[in-house]
Amino acid sequence: MTFVTRSLVSAGLLVALGLPAVAQTEVKIGYALAPDSHYGVAAKKFEEVVKAETGDAFDFKHFPSSGLGGEREVIEGLQIGTIEATIVSSGTLANFVPETGVFDIPFLFNGFDHARAVLDGEIGQDILAKFDNVGLHGLAWGEQGFRHITNNRNAIHTPADVAGLKLRTMENPVHLAAFNAMGAAPTPMAWPEVVSSLQQGVIDGQENPLSVIVSVKLNEVQKYLTLSGHVYSPAMLLVSKPFWDGLDDAQKAAFEKAATEAAAEMRGYVDNVETTGVETLKERGMEVNALSAEEKAAFQESIAAAYEGYYDTYGQDLVDSIVNFK
Ligand code: PAF
Repeated sequence: MTFVTRSLVSAGLLVALGLPAVAQTEVKIGYALAPDSHYGVAAKKFEEVVKAETGDAFDFKHFPSSGLGGEREVIEGLQIGTIEATIVSSGTLANFVPETGVFDIPFLFNGFDHARAVLDGEIGQDILAKFDNVGLHGLAWGEQGFRHITNNRNAIHTPADVAGLKLRTMENPVHLAAFNAMGAAPTPMAWPEVVSSLQQGVIDGQENPLSVIVSVKLNEVQKYLTLSGHVYSPAMLLVSKPFWDGLDDAQKAAFEKAATEAAAEMRGYVDNVETTGVETLKERGMEVNALSAEEKAAFQESIAAAYEGYYDTYGQDLVDSIVNFK
């Protein structure tokens, strides 16, 4: 039975019993990637848990693969209340809550446990709470993984290998500063334009975690993959503040539970693709190299000037407290 038929039958039963049919509240959820990506599986889990907790009070409509536009446009839709929910990268989040940008600093986290502990701890939760001041409500931090560079020009081992490389970055000033300091030619671009720009040679490369490279099949438009792990890429499950304010306490608790489970689902997907993704991409024909510890150190040194800017913007104490977080 389809969803519509089921709804009609249950509405019919209620009417037959002399009870009013309960209207479902629509939840449009938009995200940049496909239903079988880390965002897609998280969105599915989110819906399942909300429905299980609220007895089908909400009718989810999914808009995967940037069906509602780029991440910035979707977040703006949440602010004005035309879209209810999204799962987004941190790409444009600092344009809404500037403090979020601190997590976009390259070489900040030493691994997944470190990043997850910071996001789930006081520092991450304080920043999540700030979204309430800008027409949004942050429900949970998810993640994409550590970002790596793909391109069509050459394998990358040293900063000299990225010199002048036309590399698409997210519309994110923290990333932009780092790639400028490295000597690349970074081009900020909204995600929906990226694959066609790579195809047409408008840009040489891009950077994203394995979760994205594998699920989007970037191997079809990129030859080289360098496992640079230069920056951790958080994601966030966000809802519209006008929508959130319209929920009762039990519904809010249901959405919170659903977001926690959706974030866990997303991290589980990332854990899996981190172990299988490189092999998959090699099988699909990509030339893969991993930066050695020394090579990575050279990239870290190359962005020393950008780090001075990060300290000015976010405060060295905060950056150090994240780096040294135990
Ligand atoms: O590179 C980006 O813009 C993001 O990582 C993406 C692919 C849209 C996922 O949020």
